[in-house]
Amino acid sequence: MIKVNIPPRKKSNPGDTVETEFLFKILPDLPHPPEELLRQNLATNKHNNIPQIPHFDGFKREDGQTVSPEIKAWLCPDNLDKWVQDNIGPTNRGLIYRKVLIQDDKKFYPPHIDVNRKFVMLYNLVDSGGEFCYWQEKNLPVIRSMLTRAMCFDYSQLTLIEKFVPPVRTWYLTNVQALHSVENLSAVRENIQFNLEPWDPLVVEHLKPINRNV
Ligand SMILES: [Fe+2]
Repeated sequence: MIKVNIPPRKKSNPGDTVETEFLFKILPDLPHPPEELLRQNLATNKHNNIPQIPHFDGFKREDGQTVSPEIKAWLCPDNLDKWVQDNIGPTNRGLIYRKVLIQDDKKFYPPHIDVNRKFVMLYNLVDSGGEFCYWQEKNLPVIRSMLTRAMCFDYSQLTLIEKFVPPVRTWYLTNVQALHSVENLSAVRENIQFNLEPWDPLVVEHLKPINRNV
């Protein structure tokens, strides 16, 4: 039996999970941000200081060689944030511009669970390849609370559940309560993204097909 339990807005607790089999959906029909809004400098002086993975940098992979790449984030200019709010949905804690600065031995974004959000909408700005992978850690559930602050560099403990290559310049919705990583990046990864709350229409809409079976 598939269970979906969307917490009511007022009673939800950040550590609660939304139990769902939904992992991701590519949404090619959603509108594209205008070129002139993307062509401006997105790296404003407003840094996004909400850590997704505060214990991230410096951790070593199982081979003892590779550490995670540098990841930078800024809050987007207001005009782009407003366009997304008007055309896609509420950006909640702000539209984020994020860069993953890969190097030859750091072409991945290691498996982790986001610590401050459950669902994320993303729009990749450049073609950087990279497989968005979902994993299950041995003897642990797929959906895990953000309070676990989970991350894992030991791939022998992980089973790949699903993977996809996000198409460039296309919106996609992801469930970040499951361990996820981006593997085999071919270039610096740049995207705009925003946190979705479990009651946001975009989330509710995409959980609904599963909900029918409850
Ligand atoms: Fe993440």
